[in-house]
Amino acid sequence: MKILITAGPTREPIDPVRFLSNRSSGKMGYALAEAAMDQGHTVTLISGPVALTAPVGVTLHRVETAQQMWETTRLVCASDAAPNIAIFAAAVADYRPVAIASEKIKKHADNLTVELERTPDVLGSMRSDFSFGGFLVGFAAETNDLVGHAMDKLARKNCDLVIANDVSRTDTGFDSDENEVILCLPAGRTETIPKKSKRALSDTLIQRIVELAKQKLLAEK
Ligand code: PMT
Repeated sequence: MKILITAGPTREPIDPVRFLSNRSSGKMGYALAEAAMDQGHTVTLISGPVALTAPVGVTLHRVETAQQMWETTRLVCASDAAPNIAIFAAAVADYRPVAIASEKIKKHADNLTVELERTPDVLGSMRSDFSFGGFLVGFAAETNDLVGHAMDKLARKNCDLVIANDVSRTDTGFDSDENEVILCLPAGRTETIPKKSKRALSDTLIQRIVELAKQKLLAEK
Protein backbone atom coordinates (compact mmCIF):
# COMPACT_ATOMS: atom_id res chain seq x y z
CA MET A 1 0.00 0.00 0.00
CA LYS A 2 1.04 3.64 -0.47
CA ILE A 3 0.65 5.40 2.86
CA LEU A 4 0.76 9.15 3.51
CA ILE A 5 1.46 10.24 7.09
CA THR A 6 1.51 13.77 8.53
CA ALA A 7 3.49 14.38 11.71
CA GLY A 8 4.65 17.02 14.16
CA PRO A 9 3.44 20.55 14.85
CA THR A 10 3.15 23.50 12.50
CA ARG A 11 4.62 26.93 13.20
CA GLU A 12 2.60 30.02 12.39
CA PRO A 13 4.88 33.09 12.25
CA ILE A 14 4.09 36.31 14.14
CA ASP A 15 7.28 38.14 13.14
CA PRO A 16 10.75 37.02 11.91
CA VAL A 17 11.66 35.54 15.34
CA ARG A 18 8.35 34.43 16.89
CA PHE A 19 5.68 31.88 16.05
CA LEU A 20 2.58 30.11 17.41
CA SER A 21 2.95 26.34 17.77
CA ASN A 22 2.16 23.42 20.10
CA ARG A 23 3.81 20.60 22.02
CA SER A 24 3.77 17.92 19.32
CA SER A 25 7.18 16.21 19.05
CA GLY A 26 6.39 14.18 15.93
CA LYS A 27 7.07 10.90 17.79
CA MET A 28 3.65 9.40 16.99
CA GLY A 29 3.80 10.19 13.26
CA TYR A 30 7.42 9.08 12.88
CA ALA A 31 6.71 5.82 14.75
CA LEU A 32 3.80 5.17 12.36
CA ALA A 33 6.08 5.86 9.38
CA GLU A 34 8.71 3.42 10.72
CA ALA A 35 6.13 0.71 11.39
CA ALA A 36 4.60 1.15 7.93
CA MET A 37 8.06 0.86 6.30
CA ASP A 38 8.86 -2.26 8.36
CA GLN A 39 5.58 -3.81 7.20
CA GLY A 40 6.60 -3.31 3.56
CA HIS A 41 4.53 -0.27 2.60
CA THR A 42 5.61 2.76 0.56
CA VAL A 43 5.57 5.77 2.87
CA THR A 44 5.40 9.52 2.27
CA LEU A 45 5.90 11.58 5.42
CA ILE A 46 4.91 15.25 5.57
CA SER A 47 6.49 16.64 8.70
CA GLY A 48 6.36 19.87 10.62
CA PRO A 49 9.54 21.04 12.41
CA VAL A 50 10.74 18.25 14.75
CA ALA A 51 14.05 17.00 16.13
CA LEU A 52 13.67 13.48 14.72
CA THR A 53 15.32 11.63 11.84
CA ALA A 54 12.98 10.16 9.25
CA PRO A 55 13.10 6.37 8.85
CA VAL A 56 15.31 5.16 5.99
CA GLY A 57 13.35 4.73 2.75
CA VAL A 58 10.58 7.19 3.59
CA THR A 59 9.92 10.07 1.17
CA LEU A 60 10.11 13.08 3.48
CA HIS A 61 8.61 16.53 2.86
CA ARG A 62 9.48 19.13 5.49
CA VAL A 63 7.03 21.99 6.06
CA GLU A 64 6.64 24.79 8.59
CA THR A 65 3.12 26.18 8.38
CA ALA A 66 -0.39 24.74 8.07
CA GLN A 67 -0.65 26.38 4.64
CA GLN A 68 2.53 24.57 3.50
CA MET A 69 1.24 21.27 4.92
CA TRP A 70 -2.04 21.79 3.03
CA GLU A 71 -0.22 22.61 -0.25
CA THR A 72 2.25 19.70 0.07
CA THR A 73 -0.57 17.25 0.83
CA ARG A 74 -2.49 18.54 -2.20
CA LEU A 75 0.56 17.98 -4.45
CA VAL A 76 1.26 14.47 -3.06
CA CYS A 77 -2.39 13.47 -3.61
CA ALA A 78 -2.18 14.66 -7.23
CA SER A 79 1.15 12.88 -7.93
CA ASP A 80 2.34 9.33 -8.70
CA ALA A 81 2.78 8.94 -4.92
CA ALA A 82 -0.99 9.43 -4.42
CA PRO A 83 -1.77 7.29 -1.35
CA ASN A 84 -4.29 4.47 -0.76
CA ILE A 85 -4.19 5.28 2.94
CA ALA A 86 -3.70 8.69 4.61
CA ILE A 87 -3.01 9.04 8.34
CA PHE A 88 -3.08 12.51 9.91
CA ALA A 89 -1.04 12.44 13.13
CA ALA A 90 0.16 16.06 12.82
CA ALA A 91 -0.97 18.68 15.31
CA VAL A 92 -1.78 21.42 12.81
CA ALA A 93 -2.30 24.90 14.26
CA ASP A 94 -5.97 25.82 14.00
CA TYR A 95 -5.24 29.58 13.91
CA ARG A 96 -2.49 31.81 12.50
CA PRO A 97 -1.79 35.55 12.75
CA VAL A 98 -3.69 37.55 10.13
CA ALA A 99 -0.60 39.69 9.50
CA ILE A 100 3.07 38.71 9.85
CA ALA A 101 5.25 41.65 10.95
CA SER A 102 8.20 42.07 8.58
CA GLU A 103 10.43 43.22 11.44
CA LYS A 104 10.76 42.00 15.04
CA ILE A 105 7.89 43.46 17.10
CA LYS A 106 9.28 45.85 19.75
CA LYS A 107 7.88 45.93 23.28
CA HIS A 108 6.43 49.47 23.40
CA ALA A 109 2.93 48.93 24.79
CA ASP A 110 1.93 47.02 27.96
CA ASN A 111 -0.52 44.92 25.98
CA LEU A 112 -0.27 43.51 22.50
CA THR A 113 -3.16 41.99 20.57
CA VAL A 114 -2.49 39.56 17.74
CA GLU A 115 -5.47 38.96 15.49
CA LEU A 116 -5.81 35.33 14.39
CA GLU A 117 -7.60 33.63 11.51
CA ARG A 118 -8.35 29.96 10.78
CA THR A 119 -5.73 27.87 8.98
CA PRO A 120 -6.73 25.52 6.17
CA ASP A 121 -7.98 22.14 7.42
CA VAL A 122 -5.69 19.61 5.72
CA LEU A 123 -7.62 16.50 6.82
CA GLY A 124 -10.94 18.22 6.11
CA SER A 125 -9.82 19.01 2.54
CA MET A 126 -8.93 15.41 1.62
CA ARG A 127 -12.33 14.34 0.26
CA SER A 128 -13.64 17.68 -1.03
CA ASP A 129 -10.57 19.49 -2.41
CA PHE A 130 -8.06 16.68 -3.05
CA SER A 131 -10.62 14.07 -4.27
CA PHE A 132 -9.09 11.40 -2.00
CA GLY A 133 -11.06 8.14 -2.25
CA GLY A 134 -8.80 5.93 -0.13
CA PHE A 135 -8.86 5.01 3.56
CA LEU A 136 -8.78 8.22 5.61
CA VAL A 137 -7.53 8.23 9.20
CA GLY A 138 -7.61 11.26 11.50
CA PHE A 139 -6.33 11.66 15.03
CA ALA A 140 -8.31 13.43 17.75
CA ALA A 141 -6.33 15.11 20.51
CA GLU A 142 -8.85 15.52 23.33
CA THR A 143 -8.89 16.40 27.02
CA ASN A 144 -12.46 15.22 27.73
CA ASP A 145 -15.21 13.08 26.16
CA LEU A 146 -12.66 11.42 23.86
CA VAL A 147 -15.08 9.17 22.01
CA GLY A 148 -17.81 11.84 21.63
CA HIS A 149 -15.44 14.40 20.09
CA ALA A 150 -13.68 11.78 17.93
CA MET A 151 -16.99 10.44 16.56
CA ASP A 152 -17.96 14.02 15.71
CA LYS A 153 -14.66 14.44 13.75
CA LEU A 154 -15.20 11.07 12.03
CA ALA A 155 -18.47 12.34 10.55
CA ARG A 156 -17.48 15.98 9.99
CA LYS A 157 -14.16 15.25 8.25
CA ASN A 158 -15.50 12.26 6.32
CA CYS A 159 -12.95 9.84 7.83
CA ASP A 160 -13.03 6.04 7.88
CA LEU A 161 -11.35 5.98 11.28
CA VAL A 162 -10.45 8.51 13.97
CA ILE A 163 -7.83 7.60 16.57
CA ALA A 164 -8.57 9.38 19.85
CA ASN A 165 -5.85 10.11 22.39
CA ASP A 166 -6.08 11.85 25.75
CA VAL A 167 -3.75 14.86 25.69
CA SER A 168 -4.53 15.93 29.26
CA ARG A 169 -2.25 13.12 30.51
CA THR A 170 1.51 13.56 30.87
CA ASP A 171 2.35 9.84 30.38
CA THR A 172 0.70 9.64 26.93
CA GLY A 173 -0.19 11.99 24.04
CA PHE A 174 2.04 14.99 23.33
CA ASP A 175 5.81 14.47 23.52
CA SER A 176 5.71 11.22 25.48
CA ASP A 177 7.24 7.93 24.35
CA GLU A 178 4.01 6.02 25.03
CA ASN A 179 0.41 6.39 23.96
CA GLU A 180 -2.99 4.82 24.59
CA VAL A 181 -5.71 5.20 21.99
CA ILE A 182 -9.34 4.47 21.20
CA LEU A 183 -10.16 3.64 17.58
CA CYS A 184 -13.46 5.32 16.66
CA LEU A 185 -15.19 3.71 13.69
CA PRO A 186 -18.51 4.28 11.88
CA ALA A 187 -21.76 3.21 13.60
CA GLY A 188 -20.32 4.11 16.99
CA ARG A 189 -17.91 1.14 17.10
CA THR A 190 -14.78 1.53 19.25
CA GLU A 191 -11.62 -0.51 19.87
CA THR A 192 -9.21 0.36 22.70
CA ILE A 193 -5.47 -0.24 22.43
CA PRO A 194 -3.93 -0.07 25.91
CA LYS A 195 -0.83 1.96 26.75
CA LYS A 196 2.42 0.93 25.07
CA SER A 197 5.37 2.57 23.37
CA LYS A 198 4.40 4.68 20.35
CA ARG A 199 6.53 2.34 18.21
CA ALA A 200 4.80 -0.85 19.44
CA LEU A 201 1.40 0.84 19.21
CA SER A 202 2.20 1.83 15.62
CA ASP A 203 2.78 -1.81 14.64
CA THR A 204 -0.73 -2.63 15.85
CA LEU A 205 -2.24 0.50 14.29
CA ILE A 206 -0.70 -0.03 10.84
CA GLN A 207 -1.79 -3.70 10.80
CA ARG A 208 -5.36 -2.78 11.78
CA ILE A 209 -5.58 0.21 9.40
CA VAL A 210 -4.37 -1.89 6.44
CA GLU A 211 -6.88 -4.62 7.35
CA LEU A 212 -9.74 -2.08 7.49
CA ALA A 213 -8.58 -0.43 4.23
CA LYS A 214 -8.63 -3.82 2.45
CA GLN A 215 -12.15 -4.50 3.81
CA LYS A 216 -13.27 -1.11 2.45
CA LEU A 217 -11.74 -1.87 -0.98
CA LEU A 218 -13.51 -5.25 -1.12
CA ALA A 219 -16.85 -3.72 -0.08
CA GLU A 220 -16.55 -1.11 -2.87
CA LYS A 221 -15.96 -3.76 -5.58
O1 PMT B 1 3.75 14.40 18.07
P1 PMT B 1 3.65 13.71 19.43
O2 PMT B 1 4.35 14.50 20.51
O3 PMT B 1 4.07 12.27 19.35
O4 PMT B 1 2.10 13.73 19.86
C1 PMT B 1 1.18 12.97 19.14
C2 PMT B 1 -0.14 13.73 18.98
C3 PMT B 1 -0.81 13.90 20.33
C4 PMT B 1 0.11 15.11 18.33
C5 PMT B 1 -1.02 12.86 18.00
O5 PMT B 1 -1.24 11.60 18.57
C6 PMT B 1 -2.36 13.54 17.71
O6 PMT B 1 -3.33 13.43 18.44
N1 PMT B 1 -2.41 14.28 16.57
C7 PMT B 1 -3.56 15.12 16.19
C8 PMT B 1 -3.51 16.41 16.98
C9 PMT B 1 -4.61 17.34 16.59
O7 PMT B 1 -4.31 18.39 16.06
O8 PMT B 1 -5.83 16.94 16.79
P2 PMT B 1 -7.15 17.81 16.44
O9 PMT B 1 -8.23 17.14 17.18
O10 PMT B 1 -6.94 19.28 16.68
O11 PMT B 1 -7.31 17.62 14.86
C10 PMT B 1 -8.09 16.57 14.32
C11 PMT B 1 -7.46 16.02 13.05
O12 PMT B 1 -7.47 17.02 12.02
C12 PMT B 1 -6.01 15.57 13.20
O13 PMT B 1 -5.85 14.39 12.43
C13 PMT B 1 -5.20 16.72 12.59
O14 PMT B 1 -3.98 16.25 12.00
C14 PMT B 1 -6.16 17.23 11.52
N2 PMT B 1 -6.06 18.68 11.23
C15 PMT B 1 -6.42 19.60 12.17
C16 PMT B 1 -6.39 20.95 11.87
C17 PMT B 1 -5.96 21.36 10.57
N3 PMT B 1 -5.90 22.65 10.24
N4 PMT B 1 -5.61 20.43 9.67
C18 PMT B 1 -5.63 19.10 9.97
O15 PMT B 1 -5.29 18.24 9.12
